[in-house]
Amino acid sequence: MNFSLTNTPSQKGRVAIVTGANNGIGFETTLALAKHEFTVVMACRNLEKAEQAKTELLQKTPQADLDTMPLDLSDLDSVRAFVTAFKSKYAKLDVLINNAGVLIYSGKKNKAGVELQFATNHLGHFLLTNLLLDLIPDNPASRIVSLSSLAHKSAKIHFDDLNGENIDDAEAIYGQSKLANLMFADELNRRLKNGNKKIIALAAHPGGSSSGLFNEMSRAKYYFFMILSPFILNSPASAAKPSLFAALSPEVKGGEYVGPQGFNELKGKVGFAKRSSYSQREDVAQQLWELSEEMTGEAFLLASKK
Ligand SMILES: NC(=O)c1ccc[n+]([C@@H]2O[C@H](COP(=O)([O-])OP(=O)(O)OC[C@H]3O[C@@H](n4cnc5c(N)ncnc54)[C@H](OP(=O)(O)O)[C@@H]3O)[C@@H](O)[C@H]2O)c1
Repeated sequence: MNFSLTNTPSQKGRVAIVTGANNGIGFETTLALAKHEFTVVMACRNLEKAEQAKTELLQKTPQADLDTMPLDLSDLDSVRAFVTAFKSKYAKLDVLINNAGVLIYSGKKNKAGVELQFATNHLGHFLLTNLLLDLIPDNPASRIVSLSSLAHKSAKIHFDDLNGENIDDAEAIYGQSKLANLMFADELNRRLKNGNKKIIALAAHPGGSSSGLFNEMSRAKYYFFMILSPFILNSPASAAKPSLFAALSPEVKGGEYVGPQGFNELKGKVGFAKRSSYSQREDVAQQLWELSEEMTGEAFLLASKK
């Protein structure tokens, strides 16, 4: 792979949205895009945190063109309000990075009664992408990047128990949401190609990185994790590289899954990532797509291959 961020030319005039831009990997992704002169819309659930992050980003890159806008992905009304506001300000969207995510252990649900990780990580991004698609120019530099995780590998989509009421392992429910992110990226790319669209959809995972994601872990596990983190994990800046590769590399064609290539895929040079065979099941991806349309109450204007 020949892609290098330093050799990537200015992207002036192009617009990107990064969800969850105020912290961790989203913050670093925003920083790199802003350095390359994208206009970056920081779509965040807490505007105060978003403004603080913007101030910090401007200290690092004073010429950055950044716009903070409220978006709570766990609430479909908030997703709709964000899209309306975005469309009133911007005539196009070149890069959408579906980065925001939660890892929770509480079994919490959103106001519609959907388990919070599935609602936030998958359904919110599913609707967001659907409603923004008509603004994305039809060319291969246009990218829709979904953040998945190593946690997808042991997961399945529990169509008969999406909320995980009968599943003891809390991390399996997070894994389900990240598997949904990966299968959504694949199915979106298949449907784009089926409609002869040149827009590229693909997935990335950051490996492992100490970020806000693990704040809800049990304290014993969290401290163990934090002690090990300098040795086995990526910094948030390195963890943002797969997303940036997916968003900017001319080498991708759509449907790829990119991530770090080092020990256990936790960190290292960016390349094509390994994936579970379950994640490649087109029948499951289609079923998930149809269910997601039903749950968001919005059909995509993209037909499946069937
Ligand atoms: N860190 C890792 O090792 C790792 C591994 C695999 C995959 N990932 C994925 O990488 C992505 C970024 O995670 P991270 O590690 O950078 O975690 P992070 O530091 O916790 O950042 C997550 C971001 O998502 C935002 N967010 C959470 N719920 C939201 C909602 N309902 N609406 C809008 N934004 C929301 C958070 O906002 P607040 O600041 O307001 O909470 C924060 O800005 C996630 O998709 C995660 O699943 C991370």
